[in-house]
Amino acid sequence: MTVVKYSISDDIALIQISNPPVNAISAAVRIELLQTIETLALEKSVKAIVITAPERTFLAGADIKEFGKDIDAPILSEICDKIESLDKVVVASLHGTPLGGGLEVAMSAHYRIAAPNTKVGLPEVLLGILPGAGGTQRLPRLCGVSMALDMMLTGKHVPVREAFENGIVDEIAQDNKSIDNGIAYAKKLIKEGAKIRPTSKIDKKIKNIEEIKSVIIKFKSEALKKYKNLFSPHAIIKSVDEGLSLDFPGAIKNERRLFTECIKSTQREGLIHSFFSERAITKIPELASGKPVELKNIGIIGGGTMGTGISMAAMNAGYNVIMIEQNQGAIDKALEKINSTYERNVKLGRITSDQKQQIMKLFSATIDMKELNNRDLIIEAVFENMEVKKEVFIKLNEICSKNCILASNTSYLDVNEISTVVDNPSRVIGLHFFSPANIMKLLEVVVADKTSEDTVATAFMLAKKMKKVPVRSGVCDGFIGNRILSKYLVGTYHMVEDGASPFHVDKVLREFGCAMGVFQVIDLAGGDIGWATRKRKAPFRHKDDRYVEIADRVCENGWFGQKTSKGYYLYGEGIDFLTPNPEIEVICSSERQRSGIIPKTFSDQEILDRYIAAMVYEGTKILQEKIAVRPSDIDVVYTNGYGFPKWRGGPMKYADMIGLDKILLNIQKFSEADSRFWSPPQLLIDLVDNNKNFDSLN
Ligand code: CAA
Repeated sequence: MTVVKYSISDDIALIQISNPPVNAISAAVRIELLQTIETLALEKSVKAIVITAPERTFLAGADIKEFGKDIDAPILSEICDKIESLDKVVVASLHGTPLGGGLEVAMSAHYRIAAPNTKVGLPEVLLGILPGAGGTQRLPRLCGVSMALDMMLTGKHVPVREAFENGIVDEIAQDNKSIDNGIAYAKKLIKEGAKIRPTSKIDKKIKNIEEIKSVIIKFKSEALKKYKNLFSPHAIIKSVDEGLSLDFPGAIKNERRLFTECIKSTQREGLIHSFFSERAITKIPELASGKPVELKNIGIIGGGTMGTGISMAAMNAGYNVIMIEQNQGAIDKALEKINSTYERNVKLGRITSDQKQQIMKLFSATIDMKELNNRDLIIEAVFENMEVKKEVFIKLNEICSKNCILASNTSYLDVNEISTVVDNPSRVIGLHFFSPANIMKLLEVVVADKTSEDTVATAFMLAKKMKKVPVRSGVCDGFIGNRILSKYLVGTYHMVEDGASPFHVDKVLREFGCAMGVFQVIDLAGGDIGWATRKRKAPFRHKDDRYVEIADRVCENGWFGQKTSKGYYLYGEGIDFLTPNPEIEVICSSERQRSGIIPKTFSDQEILDRYIAAMVYEGTKILQEKIAVRPSDIDVVYTNGYGFPKWRGGPMKYADMIGLDKILLNIQKFSEADSRFWSPPQLLIDLVDNNKNFDSLN
């Protein structure tokens, strides 16, 4: 199939690249683009060449699927150098999202015109790599070192006006017709006698070496704090820094060397896995035929932390929200919380006060549940108790229209059971938001046995409008995320009772790259939440299950974490971040004594092995029971909702990377001491026996 074609009209050659959906620069694109350039270079009559990719977007970057594979095709960097060295005026006509290699091709052209819908960026850092086709050298020449580093370290998409004002594009077109725009611009340039203008020769913005050095020092010191665990941000700064003292070909060679190091890193593998995993989440059976219902008005029941957060997420997406609370005092508190959150956004310059006013108009609150009768969707966020939830759903069944979707924000409870109190259970679904719900990206969409495909499709549409990352989960205690969390929490308490310090466990997990250690998370969420869950589950606990009481002892003291200024850590004015509560070690040792355990020492590696093994163990069971559609969905849950490092891909990908045989061996070893907790899941045994990994199930 031809992916690059060209035509010549008068003295202008038009190149059209077509590789749907986003014109990724695959091996085929590189081969044909190079051939086309070499052919056109010999066309004496041609004075200008226009490069376009006229479908959905100009080239959105290298074909990410090819990274890590051995592919025999010219590298993009050479093609860019070739484009730049042409003795004809080269114009790139941009629209959509010229990103990564796409922007690098554009920057190797001599002039750039961009449609009004254009956003440019070098987002390679988000994939664990650096711009490897001259981007680290050409972008600073166009917009200066400071803006270039900011773009490359954040991966942000820069709107056309800002790109124009900073020299990345030369003209903004009137409309989005990239072929017409490019040809008209090329004609104008020829008429004006414009000369070829290689970006590598532009040095106005990189001349002031003293100033640039100080900019680089600033970025380096910030990067040490911000990107402590990451490899590619430092490589990006290095490439810019070292490039400035080399000639252009030398700088490109150096960039290539650093690019290759990034490509080889496991961080690249983890981040690219995350990229594709986040795009696979919508590939679920219900979305193949389910039709989303249009939503306008949403009802939220409960004005606590979750209810206010979900309300703001809905308002930010433009939905009209009515909140139900039990009394005026609770309504006032919820309103105050919502108002102060938006006020803070105004102060931080994230929104204008006009925008705040417009958003606040979408909100109202009442104690009268009957006002929910005209809503298209209700999300209840009341106390986590089956009887309380059922009572709410019984009322909703009476009040709401029969097409209204009824969602529960439960984080553990059985959505099938909740749906039994409703006449039409096909419209009942679980929407498990994560706190703070206006910020956290993850949304578990819990599909009950009778939930209809249309209800699921509507939930995914809602998630898209709210800019959430929705992951389908079946019904089970805790769904995907909290079920795995329960497993490794129990495993962690076993470890602590056996001798590990909670603070050592947290340190190991932070060093592994987790946003927080488990005990930090408990303190943040509130120890009372887990305590309530343990009490709820107590009647169902098997008599032979090992039960560690350390957490209960902590809660009995009223130490629920941040909200009580004391938990595993101490909180309050003048107290350093992560100051251990000294009484925790006392509780641990007296509990060890009570249970007759002689404490042993745990190495960092053993702590990590047990943490990962517990996650993978439960993840495997979740797959076995078809609660998650695929292993990568579990990864998305963990990297978007539980602070698992994205650059490690997620727990299942991480397991693949270190080898499932090793994980299974660990589980078998741990099961010698506690076979009830660790008996190896059959699916894991089968995968290892067949020499397969989780990725084979994606
Ligand atoms: N390579 C391969 N496939 C890609 C791709 C890429 N660079 N970018 C997107 N796709 C695929 C997606 O996987 C998705 O496939 P499915 O439909 O099969 O799931 C499809 O294209 C559409 O993508 P989105 O769903 O993300 O579409 P969107 O409209 O929401 O977003 C986009 C479009 C802004 C381009 C977004 O896809 C994106 O950000 N892509 C990545 C861009 C990028 O990182 N470019 C740099 C690549 S690295 C590089 O270029 C290195 C270098 O220096 C040479």
